[in-house]
Amino acid sequence: VGTAPVYPQVKWLKEQGVEVDVIIGAKNRDMLIYTEEMERVASRLYITTDDGSAGSKGLVTAKLEELIAAGNHYDECVAIGPMIMMKFVALTTKKYSLKTTVSLNALMVDGTGMCGACRVTVAGKTRFTCVEGPEFDAHEVDFDEAMRRQGMYRNLEQRALAIRKEREEGHKCRIGLDK
Ligand code: FES
Repeated sequence: VGTAPVYPQVKWLKEQGVEVDVIIGAKNRDMLIYTEEMERVASRLYITTDDGSAGSKGLVTAKLEELIAAGNHYDECVAIGPMIMMKFVALTTKKYSLKTTVSLNALMVDGTGMCGACRVTVAGKTRFTCVEGPEFDAHEVDFDEAMRRQGMYRNLEQRALAIRKEREEGHKCRIGLDK
């Protein structure tokens, strides 16, 4: 999904004459999106999949490390996608002092900076992703805290999903447990 917000950035950079190498990572080939569009605007496009069904088998971080180790020079890295991926991209680029920007997909409620649901810690300070982000310096983000916060409704989400699935299958709870 992170490929979609990266695409206009790559397109704009190309229009400014900036070379951009792009790595798209996905679980498998069916989960890939925007590959043809990205191919048209990226200087070089690399695809990685967890199962090797498209591109090279492995994680985006392995490809990133490979490109840097091969002597490619980059001025900035932009990572958008699952929090865990962004965490490990940040750890990888930190080794090379490569400036890295991430776009955080924190849980949001009001989206106006009032509820505090989207708060993250960046450089030791509380920041609200909705009004102060979503882009932050990746090397300053407390990803472990952000991932803990992102998972705090997981039980409720799983319960809601299970109830929906049961309803779709025609189940009707007679004792009110699906309320
Ligand atoms: Fe409520 Fe950001 S979503 S403060």
